[in-house]
Amino acid sequence: MDMESLQSDLKQYGQEHLSKFWPELTESDKEHLYKELSGMNLQEVTAFFKTAEKSLQNASEKIDDHLQPLSADVCGSLARCDKATLKNYQHQGLTAIGDGKVAVLLLAGGQGTRLGVPYPKGMYNVGLPSRKTLYQLQAERILKVQKLAQLTRGQKCVVPWYIMTSEHTKEPTLEFFTKHNYFGLQKENVIIFEQNLLPCFDFDGKIILQTPSKVALAPDGNGGLYRALRDSKVLDNMEQRGIQYIHVYCVDNILVKMADPVFIGFCISKGANCGAKVVEKAFPTEAVGVVCKVDGRYQVVEYSEITLKTAEKRNADGRLTFSAGNICNHFFTFDFLKHVSHPAQEAQLKHHVAKKKIPYVADDGSLHKPTKPNGIKMEKFVFDVFQFATDRNFAVWEVLREDEFSPLKNADTEAKDTQTTCRHSLYSLHHRYILTAGGKFIQKDGTPLPDIPRTVQNGKGDRRQTSDHHSDDDLIVCEISPLVSYAGEGLEDLVQGKSFLCPVLIELQNGEPSIHQSNGQ
Ligand code: UD1
Repeated sequence: MDMESLQSDLKQYGQEHLSKFWPELTESDKEHLYKELSGMNLQEVTAFFKTAEKSLQNASEKIDDHLQPLSADVCGSLARCDKATLKNYQHQGLTAIGDGKVAVLLLAGGQGTRLGVPYPKGMYNVGLPSRKTLYQLQAERILKVQKLAQLTRGQKCVVPWYIMTSEHTKEPTLEFFTKHNYFGLQKENVIIFEQNLLPCFDFDGKIILQTPSKVALAPDGNGGLYRALRDSKVLDNMEQRGIQYIHVYCVDNILVKMADPVFIGFCISKGANCGAKVVEKAFPTEAVGVVCKVDGRYQVVEYSEITLKTAEKRNADGRLTFSAGNICNHFFTFDFLKHVSHPAQEAQLKHHVAKKKIPYVADDGSLHKPTKPNGIKMEKFVFDVFQFATDRNFAVWEVLREDEFSPLKNADTEAKDTQTTCRHSLYSLHHRYILTAGGKFIQKDGTPLPDIPRTVQNGKGDRRQTSDHHSDDDLIVCEISPLVSYAGEGLEDLVQGKSFLCPVLIELQNGEPSIHQSNGQ
């Protein structure tokens, strides 16, 4: 350990306090701290702080005057698309998948602080009848889409699954996949890599020490993807496999369509190299980012960055002018990813700065958990590369929220985006799959249940919205394994003309679909 040279570096960048506990540390703690500090590019991270500091000063500035809505020619909408065109998109997507050109990439390096569980979000079981976790649902959707693509192309194919983790999520994720035998996927096709961490700073530009021998570090945001793709040689891996299209998504959406053939087909047919899947924003103050243009460049703008007046602005047809709600589902061509991951482009992505309560060690060695923000975390955002797309190669695909977007963000004490709302969204979607395929639902006395999803009867004649309560007792509980159906297809032979008593679980058993329901029929 060359402590002298490290001390001089720390001094040069105003961070000499980081070694203040050095004389009191054990040998192994010394080794740990030395490794952490000497591995840090102090010049780079202190420069990041200086830029972040400026952006904090401008944080209250609104950017309303710079905003432009999306033009109709980059947009497509599932609801407004005719059946033949949709089928064509789907065919193009399945063809690309069948030809082995498509990969999925999961952003799973977040700390999941809002949900408040000590393990990665993907390992969460929202309480479905099957007890499947988010990771298992996603793995099974990959298996199924591979099968569908095989039917289209007549050859076996692989959709590699790249999973970006961080220091906090990598080991538990690896262990989980190993324990569950990669949920039937081939281990070599699940590529788990790690994003970078950045130190947290106090408001005076000093890096925060979390313990006497450990710096407070946090993942560098989901836009840390681009640096990680380079550093972890994931781009090389994609190139060797001949991957041309990548579907990037975030871990928490229980309805996510892995490698969604329709979305991929839409983007390919538009000649896009960068695309976003969106849902129509539900109301002006909904806390989702909107895809739009800022000073002529594509961007996602958070609600907090614009005034209420702009958020409420409507077109002549009554729709919100800025209505393209970002659901963190992106499409990139390999060439685009390679281009934006190059240091020349990646360095242009600015850090977003958030004031946070960061645990720290005081001068007397005692550990503190602040009750007010005492420092900042710096994060890049995955969609900030939209700025490198042009009108000719950017595409936005609007889908139906009830079919494709229900994220797990909060603990069940909240009303929105919880394990309960996720479970209920999945039941509602699968209920509708069965109705569309010609099945129906009955009550215990044999009378039919009304075909109105998301609304339940409690036996006393009144109706409750499913999200009003945490229990599934009065719900149409219906779960279909992704191994049986990816998006409602192939169910007719199984359910047509049949009546079902909840709860219903359709699973694949010994390669054949098998229906379990409450009356055992
Ligand atoms: C994200 C979107 C937001 C969108 C919302 C919809 C971003 C920056 N924001 O917000 O526009 O409306 O989803 O659900 O994408 N992650 C990492 N590394 C990190 C931080 C996060 O991989 O350092 C991953 C998370 O594990 C998660 C995803 O990125 O899978 C989204 O992160 P999260 O913090 O949940 O973003 P939101 O604030 O919910």
